[in-house]
Amino acid sequence: MILAVETSCDDTCAALVSADGAILANVISSQEAHARFGGVVPEVAARSHLELIDPVIDEAFARAGASLQDVELVAATRGPGLVGALLVGFAAAKALAAARRLPFAPVDHLAGHVAAAYLKPTPFEPPFVALIASGGHTLLLAVRERGAAPEVLARTLDDAAGEAFDKGARMLGLGYPGGAPLERLARAGDPYAFNFPSGRGEDFSFAGLKTALLYRTRDLDMGDEQVRADLAASYQRAIVDALVRRAERALERAGLSRLALGGGVAANGPLRERLAALGAELFLPALALCTDNAAMIAAAALDAPALAYPDYLSLDVYATGEGPLR
Ligand code: KG4
Ligand code: ZN
Repeated sequence: MILAVETSCDDTCAALVSADGAILANVISSQEAHARFGGVVPEVAARSHLELIDPVIDEAFARAGASLQDVELVAATRGPGLVGALLVGFAAAKALAAARRLPFAPVDHLAGHVAAAYLKPTPFEPPFVALIASGGHTLLLAVRERGAAPEVLARTLDDAAGEAFDKGARMLGLGYPGGAPLERLARAGDPYAFNFPSGRGEDFSFAGLKTALLYRTRDLDMGDEQVRADLAASYQRAIVDALVRRAERALERAGLSRLALGGGVAANGPLRERLAALGAELFLPALALCTDNAAMIAAAALDAPALAYPDYLSLDVYATGEGPLR
């Protein structure tokens, strides 16, 4: 079995996955400490990973009824992400691998989001277009074969889609993370009450949308529940439009008719409905596999080259710019 660790942002994650892609344990400890800051504080995340990493790995072994003796390969996220956060999981995983002279697979976080589709019990194999939308990334990828670097069809020029949800939610007086509360508020609103921009061109851009909402919140009566709901619904429609239109274009450009979703924004109901209506074969992984988790890192490790002991000891993490999708 594979032991995988993921600590690229604010979730401390460990998983045990069998060599044929069955999940034996998938433990995710979300850090609550960031809510009062309205976003992830890198130093707080790193310290919190340090406290959580051992108990989270122990819990994975307990849930799987296994021990380090059963592990044949160790994997960990190498980047992109917060360097201090990455370092904690990467060093812990290397140490466990070294203790037993096991091979070690460094995994790119985004390759992990893609590989979530390969896990049992519902493996979805390439070729497909992957839409990865979370608080940290917004990408459309053409995935032609397992393990090969996918072609980037579109990416965000500024904020990530989840970040746009979070910042919009904040302007509407909702808590962090704001995607789910904004979706709930939007249910009582009219998505056509306001016309918000959803960006032009092949790539994503959410900066103009954010500014447009800011001006509206200044001009309108934010004490009026209906106004807030209408703003939420219209703002959500703009983000969903941006994602769906570019996903449709990406499928055309890649000549594919299969679409896999990843990232926390995949939880969004209107997004799922609109994507389902595109007519492509749609793969929605379980939500626990869409948000950051270590099972997806193990899945990517199944196809990634592993290094023998001690060749991996000097490996470092990367914040950005070095992965297969740079
Ligand atoms: O994948 P994830 O858990 O962590 C990151 O890698 O960022 O994604 C979290 C993001 C947050 O920005 C959150 O607001 C967004 O996913 N999100 C949603 C919904 N649930 C979570 N966005 C829109 N609608 C939702 N229901
Ligand atoms: Zn992620």
